[in-house]
Amino acid sequence: MPGIVIVGAQWGDEGKGKATDQLGDRVDYCVRYSGGNNAGHTIVVNDEKYVLHLLPSGILNPGVTPVLGNGVVIDLDVLYQELDDLAARGAEVQHPLVSANAHVITEYHKTIDKVTERFLGKAKLGTTGRGVGPAYGDKVNRIGIRIQDLFDESILRRKVEAALEQKNHLLVKVYNRRAIEPDEITDHLLTFADRLRPHVVDASRVINDALDNDKVVLFEGAQAHHLDVDHGTYPYVTSSNPIAAGACVGAGVGPTRIDRVVGIAKAYTTRVGSGPFVTELHDVDGEKLRTIGNEFGATTGRPRRCGWFDALVVEDAVQANAFTDVFLTKLDCLTGWEKIPVCVAYDVNGERHEVLPYSQTDIHHATPVYEFLDGWTEDISKCRTFDELPANTQAYVRRLEELIRCRISGIGVGPGREETISLHDLI
Ligand code: GDP
Ligand code: IMO
Ligand code: MG
Repeated sequence: MPGIVIVGAQWGDEGKGKATDQLGDRVDYCVRYSGGNNAGHTIVVNDEKYVLHLLPSGILNPGVTPVLGNGVVIDLDVLYQELDDLAARGAEVQHPLVSANAHVITEYHKTIDKVTERFLGKAKLGTTGRGVGPAYGDKVNRIGIRIQDLFDESILRRKVEAALEQKNHLLVKVYNRRAIEPDEITDHLLTFADRLRPHVVDASRVINDALDNDKVVLFEGAQAHHLDVDHGTYPYVTSSNPIAAGACVGAGVGPTRIDRVVGIAKAYTTRVGSGPFVTELHDVDGEKLRTIGNEFGATTGRPRRCGWFDALVVEDAVQANAFTDVFLTKLDCLTGWEKIPVCVAYDVNGERHEVLPYSQTDIHHATPVYEFLDGWTEDISKCRTFDELPANTQAYVRRLEELIRCRISGIGVGPGREETISLHDLI
């Protein structure tokens, strides 16, 4: 039975939240496997907008069991803020199951994230400032704090002290900040222990049992392929593995458990934060895309950088994640252009590249080679079948399929759950 992974095919904010929520009524478990509250996943149900940062997007579907896998980094203040906010809005949601092996984001991770960015000045990465990178750094350095540590106070105190020993030297001597008191951190973490305890599980076992029992498990990616620490535009990446294979590591399932991998790609391209972006627009078209697409970060509110669809970027994600399907979002936002440029190759110092160059120097020096597809003026937001789309819109979709070498199985024509065209069933 299906294990389905959803992965962003560009640089994030492709509409993964909507796609996850939209599949919700056919899903039993919805698992976040990487990242933390650096994500911002928007869901619109009956004109009500929800933005989830840490909770899995399937949580708004009553039959879905939400899970935070071992690969997630958890800011417990944010977890409970999100749950309380949803309850205050009248949404009936379950507390997610939480992997005992997931790591926590503490105050010192957030502080270090912010001071490091400030110290980098112009070379900053443009992180979300949520402490995600430093928390993963501690995990890999083997000085992280895991969820299960909250249930053994003496171990927790020792671990927090050890984690802060070097950091306090750094904060005081390099960054000229005050030292952080280990007991303050430990006492704060302990305030969550009782509320958290009943929901802490061996998530890997829970998910594998569910798959054994023919349940449908949706692994909801955060961030995106090109923000992956191994496969993205390093160092302008996040500190985890959002790629499809990351679902195996971050949820504790073997690769043979994954039946489908769905890439979510926007019909144009956006990026928040620093890093290369070959089709970025600095003109009126870029402004127009930002306005029509409401391209402002769901987490930080920052204006998103906007540009045309880059087939090399998405094709690269298709092959590295072995997407079985692509869900193309925000096609409605392209209505009204006479011609729509699509990047089909890069020109790097006179040399044509039809696949994404591995060399970031080449990417930095690339100029886009565009194919100009015919646009359309009709409002497509009410279309619910592919045949209802104008001929030029259909041709745009079909040409993208050829360029990215993957079938497009769903199309988003608006932010609402129902504003979707399905070409092939995903479950
Ligand atoms: P995520 O991080 O991948 O979940 O994406 P975000 O929620 O950060 O950003 C996607 C934005 O596009 C949100 O405001 C969504 O409500 C919106 N959205 C998603 N799909 C569509 C679509 O097909 N059409 C339009 N117009 N908006 C969409
Ligand atoms: P969703 O799940 C877009 C970007 C940040 C920055 C880089 C590193 O909503 O698609 P981090 O705080 O992770 O250390 O920042 O990654 N970034 C995202 N960009 N969407 C996201 O999530 C992102 N999560 C991180 O802007 O460039
Ligand atoms: Mg987002």
